[in-house]
Amino acid sequence: MDSPSRAALLKHARAAQDRAYAPYSGFRVGAAVETDDGAVYTGVNVENASYGLSICAERVALCAAVAAGARRISAVAVVAGDAGGAPCGACRQFLAEFGDAATTVTFYDGGAPTTLTLADLLPHPFGLEASPEG
Ligand code: THU
Repeated sequence: MDSPSRAALLKHARAAQDRAYAPYSGFRVGAAVETDDGAVYTGVNVENASYGLSICAERVALCAAVAAGARRISAVAVVAGDAGGAPCGACRQFLAEFGDAATTVTFYDGGAPTTLTLADLLPHPFGLEASPEG
């Protein structure tokens, strides 16, 4: 994915961030995933009064994509809080289920967008030998 497309995906994540439900932490996150056929799905963090039930924006975006029938993702963008931040460890593993080593993840780091691959972010993902959908 070229950098103009990454910028476009970041815009989707930024727009989604406004819809975050984060009344407890106040930390709003928006995420966008692009699937192998070029479709874009967004997600936001959704918190709960039972704090541990809260779910991250990246996983919500991925679930939206999977629920729509997608199975492979090529790129992800995340806009976290005011200063940015990389996806948490749980989300990296979740991304690895539907991405591959070359899947790009763009996020704000110290005020500027940066792009890493999933291989950079999660070098040894957990996997089972038999992938259910091959
Ligand atoms: N959060 C995300 O949405 N994505 C991440 O990768 C890390 C954290 C959310 C969860 C919670 O609602 C808030 O940020 C503070 O942890």
